[in-house]
Amino acid sequence: MAVSLGKPELCAVIRDRIQRSPQQQIPFADFMALALYHPEHGYYTSKTEPLGMGGDFATSVHLGPDFGELLAEQWVEMWHHLGQPEPFHLVEMGPGQGLLANTILTYLQRQYPNCFAAVHYTLVETSEALRQVQQARLARWQAAAVPIDWRKLTDMPAASVTGCCFSNELVDALPVHRVTLTPTGWQEQYITYREGTDQPFVTVLGPLSQPALSTYFAWVGTVPTLDTYPDGYTTEVNLAALEWLKQVATKLHQGYVLTIDYGYSAERYYSPARSQGTLQCYYQHAHHNDPLINIGQQDITAQVDFTALARQGDRAGLSNLGQVPQELFLMALGLGDRLNQLMQIESSSPQAVRYALQRREALHQLMNPLGVGKFNVLIQGKGLTTPEQQTLKGLTLPPLR
Ligand SMILES: C[S@@+](CC[C@H](N)C(=O)[O-])C[C@H]1O[C@@H](n2cnc3c(N)ncnc32)[C@H](O)[C@@H]1O
Repeated sequence: MAVSLGKPELCAVIRDRIQRSPQQQIPFADFMALALYHPEHGYYTSKTEPLGMGGDFATSVHLGPDFGELLAEQWVEMWHHLGQPEPFHLVEMGPGQGLLANTILTYLQRQYPNCFAAVHYTLVETSEALRQVQQARLARWQAAAVPIDWRKLTDMPAASVTGCCFSNELVDALPVHRVTLTPTGWQEQYITYREGTDQPFVTVLGPLSQPALSTYFAWVGTVPTLDTYPDGYTTEVNLAALEWLKQVATKLHQGYVLTIDYGYSAERYYSPARSQGTLQCYYQHAHHNDPLINIGQQDITAQVDFTALARQGDRAGLSNLGQVPQELFLMALGLGDRLNQLMQIESSSPQAVRYALQRREALHQLMNPLGVGKFNVLIQGKGLTTPEQQTLKGLTLPPLR
């Protein structure tokens, strides 16, 4: 892996921000926000192809259309549960290159034209560069007058969404605070700048920058202390995820919030064994845990605390409909049937055989319990009054054989 300090323009911006701050240091969360989302030089805002086989990492979306098509099966059921509203809002948050939106619209138009005719698709994306990629990819839908728009979550009117707000691998990309357990209690990691060295960005400890950090662990029900955790135990707290979910809940009038990401319950996330936290950086399909190199050229992510998302949902008026691993969620929506159908393809054409093998491989990857198959799918709801509305195909576990 090529190693450098990072993009010089971005490093200069971060250095200036540090030098202008009263304590000459900024919380790690602010550093991560600049590294990923500085409007001009951030990783997601300046790199048009951070994702995919030619980028730094791939997601389920890059494994072909099956992922989006199986999700679309879930949207159709939701549409029926909500009484076939028109418009039926699909709000995709963190849509990357717009691949999922394209797959979902294509599939709905082909398989479920009535639902397709009701869909209003909104993309919520912070990166201007990626928004342009999405607009180019979805131009044909706009040209055909399919209602698609791009909005900031904060600009959307309260209670304006009847449908589903969803995301795949958004929450892990939100900036996290890093905290360290010491004999005097929790300290927070800050980034400071030391002139004249090869590695001028340095981590230092200081007091917690936000009151919410000091109450977080009691709130999620797992409180690390030095009785059972090592001195120097370091982990992350994703306050941005809590603010994001609060916003989403406000925008929803009636329907669902579906979140797919990698992570754990708080109890497993904050286990003593995970003594250096879960922060990972992705650069050209290799991963490591040093966010202070390749700044602006690599992705930085942390696992998601799903207990916190569930509790924040409760606080924001969402009901918890269920959480399952992606593997089971996609199986319940028909992944197994797709595999069976592929087995039955009888063809002497090498092209057809190659296609079937590639798709079979993709389907296996989508449910790989060592890969994306173990991701969590959390579904929350609002304004759902009947048992039918609260029972979703994707959350229905198959009977054990
Ligand atoms: C890891 S990528 C996932 C992309 C896509 N969902 C996929 O699965 O391939 C994270 C995406 O979220 C976007 N993003 C980050 N913070 C966001 C926010 N607060 N609101 C909306 N989008 C955001 C990034 O720019 C990027 O498009």
